[in-house]
Amino acid sequence: MRKLAVIAIMGTAILSMASFQSCKRDDPTSTEFIADNTTFANFHSWSLDATNHGPSPSLGIAHAGNDTSVTRKVYFKNGQARVNGTYPIGTVIVKHSTNPAGTVNEITGMVKRGNGFNPTTGNWEWFMLNPDGTIATDGSGIAMRGGAAMMGGMCNSCHGGASSKDFTFSK
Ligand code: HEC
Repeated sequence: MRKLAVIAIMGTAILSMASFQSCKRDDPTSTEFIADNTTFANFHSWSLDATNHGPSPSLGIAHAGNDTSVTRKVYFKNGQARVNGTYPIGTVIVKHSTNPAGTVNEITGMVKRGNGFNPTTGNWEWFMLNPDGTIATDGSGIAMRGGAAMMGGMCNSCHGGASSKDFTFSK
């Protein structure tokens, strides 16, 4: 009788361990951060970690950087820093490019999504944002977000050059 009870208890323990494991693996909050329209809200009040003007050697035409009148501000949510060389899952960064003439108003975002989402460049997901921080949509109403294929691979290819800083340039 006692033996049976021990076996039953062990059985239950093993079963609950197994279900805990699979729950952990499938739980998106533990391994993956999927941004939504609230993720970038109030980005202007986050930690301003870089303010750049004019051309950047690696910038080319992206982010309107070759126009010297353009200011590019980079905001890190919660001032997040790298931990042991990489940014933790859930890290959110926004970059806002503007010029005094008002002809440039570009807001891009990158979010550490994790879970093997975009392994070539550190599992970052790329975003185009509206001025209020919601995720922009293209002419067909599709959200402008993605990994390696985002903007024909442009985001991945440039930021790939910043691999030593976990694919970010500013911090
Ligand atoms: C031509 C190269 C190039 C391309 C293409 C590019 N970036 Fe960047 N990006 C940069 C550089 C350089 C910086 C550093 C800030 C600065 O000087 O503007 C930067 C900064 C950023 C930042 C702030 C964090 C950081 O790394 O400093 C975000 C967010 C960002 N880019 C998003 C994007 C997204 C989204 C795309 C694709 C739609 C993209 N970038 C495509 C060169 C590029």
